[in-house]
Amino acid sequence: MWIHSTASRGLARRTLLGGALGLVGSGFCRASEPAKAAAAELGDLELDALVASVRALARGWREAPNAADGRFEERYLAALASLLTRLGEVELPGLELAPGSDPFDFASLVYYPPISIFAIAMAPGARFDLHDHRRANGGLCLRSGSLECRHYEFVDPAAAAESGAQAPAAGFDLRRTSTLALRSGQTATLGTERDNLHELVAGPEGAVLIDAFCFLGPELRSREVELLDPSVALPGEIRRARWKT
Ligand SMILES: [Fe+2]
Repeated sequence: MWIHSTASRGLARRTLLGGALGLVGSGFCRASEPAKAAAAELGDLELDALVASVRALARGWREAPNAADGRFEERYLAALASLLTRLGEVELPGLELAPGSDPFDFASLVYYPPISIFAIAMAPGARFDLHDHRRANGGLCLRSGSLECRHYEFVDPAAAAESGAQAPAAGFDLRRTSTLALRSGQTATLGTERDNLHELVAGPEGAVLIDAFCFLGPELRSREVELLDPSVALPGEIRRARWKT
């Protein structure tokens, strides 16, 4: 019974293999038109094509009647992240980290309100301190190196709305949301409320990234924030904070 059963399974495998080879020979594996279209959707983009696509996508989001709907915004951010990952092998203009100079360098790829796209180089261990992107959303894609992204969001965005001399002296609450350890090709996004503040720390190899933001006000603004309790917050924990002066 055992021998017979094994032989049967072997026969069945050979039959399946023969059938599969027959399908290959018959052209079953030739890409269908939908598969070709899907592959084109995933292909590399030149820098100019990426910029044009991001601009069109961001305008589409802003002009949509349901732009303020959080789920629609997430759909936009996922599409933005997908575009950013598709930038092919290009030399990013103007990025230079000379020894002894600033540990950052920026190159503006496009600044055409309401959209900005920057290429950013960070030296090993360089850090962008915690800062907000109120009235904006966007995403970044790591091109090389490694990068840790630590996210927070306002518990009550209205409580932190004032800035400068009108900033609330008592500060405001931030919720620690996520920490992402990005490797080349990976992305992080932030919404107008979700994960709206972040701190970025380059790994030991440094980091080169592209970031793309769409802003709702007349200009792209962000301010640094200081946590009143410097102990590291775990995801979900709330920390009191205030704007840096
Ligand atoms: Fe930022």
